[in-house]
Amino acid sequence: MATHHRRHHHRPSYLAVSLLLPFLLVTLTAGDPFGQSCDTNFNYTANSSYQANMKNLSTTLPKTISSSQKLFATSMIGAVPDVVYALALCRGDTNASTCESCVATAFQDAQELCAFNRGATLFYDPCLLRYSYRNFLAFINGGGDEFIILKPMRNVSTSGNKYQATVAVLDNSNEVLILLNTQNVSAPSKVFDAAVGVLVNATADYAAKADNPRKFGSGVAGFQTFDGQNPRIYGLAQCTPDMAPADCRTCLADVIQAGSKYFSGSQGGRIIGVRCNYRYELYNFLAGSPLLQLPEPDVRAPAPATGGGEFLGHSLQFKNLT
Ligand SMILES: *[C@@H]1O[C@H](CO)[C@@H](O)[C@H](O)[C@H]1NC(C)=O
Ligand SMILES: *[C@@H]1O[C@H](CO)[C@@H](O)[C@H](O)[C@H]1NC(C)=O
Ligand SMILES: *[C@@H]1O[C@H](CO)[C@@H](O)[C@H](O)[C@H]1NC(C)=O
Ligand SMILES: *[C@@H]1O[C@H](CO)[C@@H](O)[C@H](O)[C@H]1NC(C)=O
Ligand SMILES: *[C@@H]1O[C@H](CO)[C@@H](O)[C@H](O)[C@H]1NC(C)=O
Ligand SMILES: *[C@@H]1O[C@H](CO)[C@@H](O)[C@H](O)[C@H]1NC(C)=O
Ligand SMILES: *[C@@H]1O[C@H](CO)[C@@H](O)[C@H](O)[C@H]1NC(C)=O
Repeated sequence: MATHHRRHHHRPSYLAVSLLLPFLLVTLTAGDPFGQSCDTNFNYTANSSYQANMKNLSTTLPKTISSSQKLFATSMIGAVPDVVYALALCRGDTNASTCESCVATAFQDAQELCAFNRGATLFYDPCLLRYSYRNFLAFINGGGDEFIILKPMRNVSTSGNKYQATVAVLDNSNEVLILLNTQNVSAPSKVFDAAVGVLVNATADYAAKADNPRKFGSGVAGFQTFDGQNPRIYGLAQCTPDMAPADCRTCLADVIQAGSKYFSGSQGGRIIGVRCNYRYELYNFLAGSPLLQLPEPDVRAPAPATGGGEFLGHSLQFKNLT
């Protein structure tokens, strides 16, 4: 059961919502992208070489990625002027079959949503796909791929949580999709944000490690609220596995910094770019065990007048998770 915590005066509505939960659960599958970008500047025609290359990719790439240990694949197919560049990435905690079917469906969806466009980018929960006639694969350092004009498809609802979808342009001019969990925490947001920051940074460090071929990290951290609740924060961070450790960490630092502007006090949030993405929630959205377990940071007792606590910063005392 997901851990939620709300202010006491919200409890009646929370109970009402939780009774409905089983019926509201939406399994995010491919076939339901939550962000897309069609490059309408350059199109192909029926029966063209470009279409043949696309057809080839749509059958070969899902197989290539599902047989890759890294759940990641890139491809360059065809001859000038009909070369197609493609990149697919699955969440590091999905399995090969979920990954394969997500990427296969992404190609199908792209043929509908971006019919005859030479470039498309689609974001799903388990995977993402980008293809183009432009060699965006060259932007391996995570910046410079400014040819995506993302459109948020819908405000996502999953595990009883609602997310507001928007897009943002980062300083490196890349566009990213932002999914903001619309529920706020009842803990003082500064303290909660700091705990999220520690977890998210730790998963980002883990993802970017040189000896981590999947460039994926996940983690859980304990958190003590002042009304005695003890929820856990779950997080993940991921880069495309072809990125160098430092580039991966920079890419993640950029999205995490963008996230801190949108997600302060929010129970969860997610930012997805082609090259890197991260997420945190107060419920366990991970498939499988978190790779990192962070102990619960000690927070200074709240001053009753403000109700605010302070994070002890770098001299944190950690308690063990129970
Ligand atoms: C490409 O197709 C789209 C429709 O998907 C259309 O809006 C656009 O104008 C076309 N672009 C060009 C350059 O013809
Ligand atoms: C494409 O090829 C199919 C099968 O060969 C044919 O039926 C169709 O008319 C062709 N379309 C165009 C636009 O050439
Ligand atoms: C795709 O292209 C590759 C290389 O060009 C070729 O070997 C393969 O047979 C093609 N596969 C399909 C399904 O068209
Ligand atoms: C892969 O994951 C999906 C979704 O979590 C699950 O339904 C499926 O059984 C898994 N398949 C394998 C082969 O483990
Ligand atoms: C999501 O919700 C916000 C606020 O309710 C709304 O402004 C926006 O249009 C919605 N976005 C989509 C893609 O439905
Ligand atoms: C959460 O906090 C934000 C910013 O303070 C506010 O705009 C929003 O309405 C709050 N959401 C809920 C569900 O209380
Ligand atoms: C997380 O790392 C960034 C640098 O990437 C740093 O600015 C920030 O203070 C860190 N946050 C926490 C809570 O450690």
